[in-house]
Amino acid sequence: MSLQSIQQTVRQQVDDTLTSLINALPDHASELKAAMHYALTVGGKRMRPLLVHLTGNMLDLPKADQLTISMAIECIHAYSLVHDDLPAMDDDDLRRGQPTCHIKFNEATAILAGDALQTLAFSILAEQPLSNFGDSQRAKLIASLAKASGYLGMCGGQAIDLASTGNQITVDQLKQLHRLKTGALLTACVDITCIASETISQDSHALLCRYAELIGLAFQVQDDILDLTASTETLGKPSGSDVALGKNTFPSLLGLDAARQELAKLHHQALQALDGLPYNTDYLVAFTDLMVNRDH
Ligand code: IPE
Ligand code: IPE
Ligand code: MG
Ligand code: MG
Ligand code: MG
Repeated sequence: MSLQSIQQTVRQQVDDTLTSLINALPDHASELKAAMHYALTVGGKRMRPLLVHLTGNMLDLPKADQLTISMAIECIHAYSLVHDDLPAMDDDDLRRGQPTCHIKFNEATAILAGDALQTLAFSILAEQPLSNFGDSQRAKLIASLAKASGYLGMCGGQAIDLASTGNQITVDQLKQLHRLKTGALLTACVDITCIASETISQDSHALLCRYAELIGLAFQVQDDILDLTASTETLGKPSGSDVALGKNTFPSLLGLDAARQELAKLHHQALQALDGLPYNTDYLVAFTDLMVNRDH
């Protein structure tokens, strides 16, 4: 099966299950519920669920575990985008080709939608179906997602991003920023999947996390390059937003050519990490290519 058709199946499955989950919520705060539904289900490439699925298939992880993990991570991701777009942060008005959550609804509702999506992620990991082994690991799954999302992960990275906006930082500081704000959640996709696996060795677990750290950083380098080189129409979010805000990015610090070289280097290192695994990694190789060559 091609990676594209797997991606389509994963997207459909994650979209359907997330939609049912939101629809099943009672209607006492219908505006908030609508905003959560909007942030979660309107568009999105679902790269993180695809990474969970490909890693999970490689490790023979039961489908129920793959789906539960994917939904939890996608809730954190959707919340991070809603808050990232707020006026106090990047102040963007377009996301996934549609008005951002605070434009479609209002700022207070968007803040609450982000908050509620964040807690929903942990409810999913605590309560949604998992295999017997997965069930025995719930506390560890939750701990991994919490670490990747909070001060030691995405939120910490977003804070460094905001604090350094307008001041030039070093390339090493920028890598740290990108590893936290974007890399941590992508690494969690792999880490959580490995924690739920009954069979993976510690060495393979560590190598897969190393792989995910590399593609996590590469993903944000490509995001920075696309902000400069792709149109708003293709991106579905405002092109040139980083320059307008004075963000530190790979192209702004190094220039476009050197940013592309850095991306190629990370791509190569990620493939090297996959080479060391005792599994068939063909799909992860194709996924890595998709991550760095994506056009939006
Ligand atoms: C955008 O993530 C934000 C970054 C971490 C770079 P995605 O490019 O995965 O966004 P969607 O989910 O496909 O919209
Ligand atoms: C966002 O980085 C990372 C998040 C944690 C949401 P960006 O601010 O570059 O993401 P986009 O370009 O708005 O999607
Ligand atoms: Mg941002
Ligand atoms: Mg942004
Ligand atoms: Mg960006």
